[in-house]
Amino acid sequence: MTYPLLNDQAINSVLDFPSVMHVLDEALADLSQGQASIHARQRSACTDVKLSTMGAIWASRHVAGTKIYPTVGGQFSFLMTLFDTRQNKPLAVMAANELTRYRTAAMTALIARKAALPLPRKLALFGCGLQGKSQLEALIGQFKFEEIAIVDPNVDQGWCNMIADKTGSHVHYCDSNGAVHDAEIIVTATRSKQAVFDGNLVKPGALISAIGTSAPDGSELDDVLLQRARKVIVEWKPQSLLEAGEVVHGLRNGSLTPDKITDLTELYAANASWRDAAEDIIVFKTVGIGLADLATALLAYQRITSS
Ligand SMILES: NC(=O)c1ccc[n+]([C@@H]2O[C@H](COP(=O)([O-])OP(=O)(O)OC[C@H]3O[C@@H](n4cnc5c(N)ncnc54)[C@H](O)[C@@H]3O)[C@@H](O)[C@H]2O)c1
Repeated sequence: MTYPLLNDQAINSVLDFPSVMHVLDEALADLSQGQASIHARQRSACTDVKLSTMGAIWASRHVAGTKIYPTVGGQFSFLMTLFDTRQNKPLAVMAANELTRYRTAAMTALIARKAALPLPRKLALFGCGLQGKSQLEALIGQFKFEEIAIVDPNVDQGWCNMIADKTGSHVHYCDSNGAVHDAEIIVTATRSKQAVFDGNLVKPGALISAIGTSAPDGSELDDVLLQRARKVIVEWKPQSLLEAGEVVHGLRNGSLTPDKITDLTELYAANASWRDAAEDIIVFKTVGIGLADLATALLAYQRITSS
């Protein structure tokens, strides 16, 4: 039996954020109808090495798969397996660094499309590393921002200029308070375990996407923001309630109550508007789910093998 080993470069060459958003939307709709299921992340650790696995079954598309990755010195190395469940055979082994980058940013853009105010004027981005840059690139494909404020001690002015040229937006680095002021969308993509901005300063109606930690002992958001939030959206409660530091911490200290928390399975099943009022502050806390990896892997595999 032979099957391809697909590398990050090949995967990057066939993916784009709108297509990944579309396939995630389809997979999440199927999850809510019992046509897909998530294999929760398993973690183990020894000395300074961690090993994690996560996956999913997408029954209506006849695929299943797992992502496996060691974390060494805070750096990840992702690999994905993809199976055909009709013939019950492997389809491919895929490098998954690009898959992870695409699916994480496309998830924020998808949730922003459904839960942010329709015409956001200002984006604030905390953390402009690999994931932060991708978050911004996915969002500028969906919204026309007048202003993009970036908070990161490591300034990449060349990249900023490139984004300004591409979008016509005013793109600038600033401090935390200045970034949050008047922002309708705020993304946190740092490795910080502490809150990166003051929740008092968040404007009513803002959507916050916190992507930066999947450890229960870290939180990029403060208690004030969790108290002010009308709704906290997580991907999938069985995993998020264990892993999402903001949620674990907020429920423990009372700044968050269970009735505010909803997940994508519930939202897709309800088939109703995700925002009740224009002034509602909505938090999306993502830790990453195996179904997003699987859906993105399937899309990349289909495009690579059909070209
Ligand atoms: N939710 C998900 O599905 C998902 C997927 C992949 C990665 N992640 C997480 O995203 C985070 C970022 O990953 P990355 O690969 O881009 O990391 P990175 O190290 O490349 O970038 C992090 C950036 O954040 C900046 N930063 C650190 N502290 C800051 C602060 N307090 N305020 C503003 N900026 C700050 C750093 O200077 C750096 O540029 C990690 O915590 C990673 O675990 C989440």
